[in-house]
Amino acid sequence: MSARHFLTLLDLSADELAYLIQRGITIKNQLKADGPTYTPFSNRTLAMIFEKSSTRTRVSFETAMAQFGGHALFLSSRDTQLGRGEPIGDTARVLSEMVDAVMIRTFSHAGLEAFAAASSVPVINALTDDYHPCQLLADVMTWTECRGPIKGKTAVWIGDGNNMCHSWINAARRFDFQLRICCPEGYDPRDDIVAAAGDHVTILRDPQEAASGADLITTDVWASMGQEEEQAKRERDFAGFQVTEALLDRASEDAIFLHCLPAHRGEEISTTLLDDSRAVVWQEAGNRLHAQKALIEFLLLGQVD
Ligand code: CP
Ligand code: NVA
Repeated sequence: MSARHFLTLLDLSADELAYLIQRGITIKNQLKADGPTYTPFSNRTLAMIFEKSSTRTRVSFETAMAQFGGHALFLSSRDTQLGRGEPIGDTARVLSEMVDAVMIRTFSHAGLEAFAAASSVPVINALTDDYHPCQLLADVMTWTECRGPIKGKTAVWIGDGNNMCHSWINAARRFDFQLRICCPEGYDPRDDIVAAAGDHVTILRDPQEAASGADLITTDVWASMGQEEEQAKRERDFAGFQVTEALLDRASEDAIFLHCLPAHRGEEISTTLLDDSRAVVWQEAGNRLHAQKALIEFLLLGQVD
């Protein structure tokens, strides 16, 4: 059987994703109760290719493999032959001979797909210019822990129609909730991704209207990795799209706020927003570990309970 990959949320069915969320919660609870005693991947190896910076993703995958009894290899494109032009497909075939799974953070989503097509071991998207599906596993897990099932709820994306926004759109499809997207003109998510989501997604321009009565509000940086030169223009274009405590006040009384982090205080969020009790971003960041443990386990072993 060919390996299962996780390049976008759409690679898994709604039932499989629902399983992963519950499994992440179980794995987290077991870890808190018993410590890292569940070690199904003794001597197994995850290769982690990073072409962009990371704190959470690297630490969560590396810790996941250590707690599982295995090992993670940090591979910077600067220090491997990938950085000197070795073809992606050749690298995928070589790594498939040695490791049990590969995690990649890169620019081009097409490049990630090319790698996965040549890989005989599972490949995990740890962020491309187009998607960040691992973050959404942690985000839906955090919602579920805080508020129960997300099905039928209303989430609001304020800001850039970027890789995180695209993954929120895919999450709305798979987890069956409503997503209001509020971006300045010119920064909408990709048309094809929006169209495929049908009536799960609405595009709005007014953050006040978008936030009204919402169950969840989330945002991300205005300039993603690779867009650093656009920072000043984006700060001008996104004026009025900052998420503040006052904006959260327009949402439902028990709304929560998520941010994948890193956050830029004073830009996409007010300087004090992460101190507000509605912001559950540290729990969200921690859940990267548990949700990705569920993902690695699923890709290597299938469903275990
Ligand atoms: N949220 C996220 O992916 O963080 P890092 O860039 O630190 O990995
Ligand atoms: N949109 C951001 C997410 C970082 C986790 C970026 O791509 O830089």
